[in-house]
Amino acid sequence: VMNTETFLCRAADVPDGGALKIERAGRPPLAVFNVGGRFFVTDDTCTHGEASLSEGEIDADECVVECPWHSGAFDLATGKPCGAPCTIALKIHAFECRDGALYLLG
Ligand code: FES
Repeated sequence: VMNTETFLCRAADVPDGGALKIERAGRPPLAVFNVGGRFFVTDDTCTHGEASLSEGEIDADECVVECPWHSGAFDLATGKPCGAPCTIALKIHAFECRDGALYLLG
């Protein structure tokens, strides 16, 4: 059963090596990352400041996003901070890909 409330984006809307910011009414924005065809969904706002991580630099080899403000970094698969000055984990979100679209779980 299709639940349109949890629709995030179409997979084709996120370029390989890029990210898409997803605005949500009354909730923190999310970021969808495409790393070589693997998708990751995280909070969009850095845990160090208010930077938008979907505007960050993606390191495909390390599967890491580097924050555009102070070059902090997070592991996209786990949300763990992996570059100063970030020390607080980034929230990652479970999702499923169905018929070429991503849906948030939970
Ligand atoms: Fe992201 Fe400072 S706001 S590292």
